[in-house]
Amino acid sequence: MKPADDFNNRLEEAIKHPKNLGELEGADVVGTVGSEDCGDMLRMWVKFKEIDGKRVIDKATFQTFGCGTAIAVASVATELISGKTVEEALTMSGEDLSAPLGSLPPLKIHCAQLVEEALRSALAPDAQAPEQKNVAPTLLQRMQSPAQEKRKIVLGPSK
Ligand code: FES
Repeated sequence: MKPADDFNNRLEEAIKHPKNLGELEGADVVGTVGSEDCGDMLRMWVKFKEIDGKRVIDKATFQTFGCGTAIAVASVATELISGKTVEEALTMSGEDLSAPLGSLPPLKIHCAQLVEEALRSALAPDAQAPEQKNVAPTLLQRMQSPAQEKRKIVLGPSK
């Protein structure tokens, strides 16, 4: 099997059966980002637990208005960061987070960066609990809220 076939199979599997999809009940923090490249959005919830006096990621989940690659990367990324400390998770690049899928095609690298940015947003020192941020229950509801009417979508150069 060629590497491209291998990548496509892993991608297809992760899109068909995404792990950790949906809102995370009892999440400690949430991060939401949008891509200027494509206008897609991704939200990530993270819940922590203590192990041997260390605060580690217990579980992470996501929702996205994104392409299949963003879904696939978020799926594998939420599995990869489980058990890591915030510091460890923050050392991971989009490339690290998408590594289980294989090398992304150049046009899809920003999809992994969207996942990385959502993770960074959720793990930022000033990240707050979902209810403190007055986050709408779903990404769709957030997009439909009046505050979003002023959203300006900036389209990047065509690639
Ligand atoms: Fe927008 Fe993939 S094309 S996240």
